[in-house]
Amino acid sequence: MLVSATEMLRKAKEGHYAVGQFNINNLEWTKAILQTAQEMNSPVILGVSEGAGKYMSGFKTVAAMVSAMIDDLGITVPVALHLDHGTYEGAKKCIEAGFSSVMFDGSHYPFDENVEKTTEIVKTAHAKGISVEAEVGSIGGVEDGVVGTGEVADPAECAKISALGIDFLAAGIGNIHGVYPENWAGLDFDALAKIQQATSGMPLVLHGGTGIPEEMIKKAISLGVSKINVNTECQLTFAAATRKYIEEGKDQKGKGYDPRKLLGPGFEAIKETVRLKINLFGSAGKA
Ligand code: 13P
Repeated sequence: MLVSATEMLRKAKEGHYAVGQFNINNLEWTKAILQTAQEMNSPVILGVSEGAGKYMSGFKTVAAMVSAMIDDLGITVPVALHLDHGTYEGAKKCIEAGFSSVMFDGSHYPFDENVEKTTEIVKTAHAKGISVEAEVGSIGGVEDGVVGTGEVADPAECAKISALGIDFLAAGIGNIHGVYPENWAGLDFDALAKIQQATSGMPLVLHGGTGIPEEMIKKAISLGVSKINVNTECQLTFAAATRKYIEEGKDQKGKGYDPRKLLGPGFEAIKETVRLKINLFGSAGKA
């Protein structure tokens, strides 16, 4: 069932768990994530970066694939199709294309411009029942060519942007996209607590979910994080499983080169990664 992310995150907040956003890149990724969420009776958010959207031919193709797949696979758990780190133009396109949720990432604009553009996106999205994620501060690292400096969000700015009627907020707290460096200082829980206090119960989003230690994930959820984004980890496990299959020469045995066989181990690896995260985030059985 394709729904906005508002209700599932409100319930997550109340129930002290988080819903996973898993980024998709193609049909295999989408099917693996949807099937795992269904098997675990968990709500789920499919994240689509602008780069991945382009790779898959465009947002309309993505929206059509996801809604048809939900139908064909008999997926009954709540699924949100969400634009990840959208530009202003990208968010507008996704609202038209049939996404049920969008992130407008205006964190690199001067704050007033972020407020202005977020307000506009909220108006357009809410008119169609589509949820909106905004960002203040920035997530470190690089995702799909978007470079973030990793600036910790200012609670006063978080409060102002939350008052615009957004549905959930990404606030930088020392998190980074991609693999964390050895010398990473960890999440800034003081900042997180202040942000949650300043935004009076707004569901918060933790980007850069790959490689954050389990205790930090649990503490972040206890301090108000209701949505956790995971991308790189599925890519790494998919790549490792595919490499193993080829290195073992399995693609050269019988019809092992058939893409339905060749991509099988990677598909199962994504399912296993998603399963582990859903268990860690506590959303199993909450659909
Ligand atoms: P990772 O790639 O570090 O898991 O981050 C995903 C993310 O935050 C998507 O916006």
